[in-house]
Amino acid sequence: MSDPILLTIAVLGGTGKEGKGLAYRWARAGYRVLIGSRTPPKAVDAAEELSMMLGGQSHIVGLGNFEAAEQADIVVLTVPYSAHRPTLESVNDVVQGKLLIDVTVPLVPPKVSKVQMPEAGSATQEARAILGKDVEICAAFQNISHQHLLGDDNVTCDVLVTGTSKDARAETIKLVEAAGLNGWDAGPIENSVVVEGLTSVLIGINKKYGSTHAGITITGVKKQATD
Ligand SMILES: NC(=O)c1ccc[n+]([C@@H]2O[C@H](COP(=O)([O-])OP(=O)(O)OC[C@H]3O[C@@H](n4cnc5c(N)ncnc54)[C@H](OP(=O)(O)O)[C@@H]3O)[C@@H](O)[C@H]2O)c1
Repeated sequence: MSDPILLTIAVLGGTGKEGKGLAYRWARAGYRVLIGSRTPPKAVDAAEELSMMLGGQSHIVGLGNFEAAEQADIVVLTVPYSAHRPTLESVNDVVQGKLLIDVTVPLVPPKVSKVQMPEAGSATQEARAILGKDVEICAAFQNISHQHLLGDDNVTCDVLVTGTSKDARAETIKLVEAAGLNGWDAGPIENSVVVEGLTSVLIGINKKYGSTHAGITITGVKKQATD
């Protein structure tokens, strides 16, 4: 299913830092990418910017979040946690039967370096509760700073992928790899608690040690677990 020629990826909130970087990398890999926004002209501008960066050879279009989700095969959510529920509710009908990749971290300002998980366990589990069982949901990219994404540098950080099924995780790992990153099957959706929480730990490490893009790598395993 992950053939770039056949697949359209919507990035809701793709005008922002993390979403724009992911959109850039998937468009570079040959996927058709739809950037979603609350304000469609903002999405059009972002699409033009990325298209120019890629020499006009890519398929990137800017749309409203709803239209982007409606037209996509795979929907990626990259909005601040405060916008997580309303954005999901607004696209609920058009993501049924699709794969949703949730990048949201449930940060609660101002203490963003303290893990503060929601009652459902994680943002990804909240997404599951909102969208229901007909949507496959994975959590991914929570531990990848946007600073790695909007460019062509090799990224040495790994991506932990948790989600509702083995197939959904495998599909998501293909997109992680298409973005030029190393993905790991990190188990069921319940494990997204750890991955989302880890982001606050990395933010704290950034603050303490004067960095901006701390990440993680898995060591001690020779072969990537993709099944
Ligand atoms: N930045 C990173 O390095 C990073 C790394 C890992 C994970 N994440 C997670 O990824 C998500 C996005 O992060 P980001 O840094 O890309 O965020 P951002 O740039 O602040 O926002 C992303 C987009 O979300 C939309 N948005 C903002 N406020 C909204 C609201 N109240 N309601 C609906 N939409 C709203 C905006 O799009 P429109 O105005 O066009 O609608 C905005 O461009 C967050 O959950 C973050 O924790 C970020």
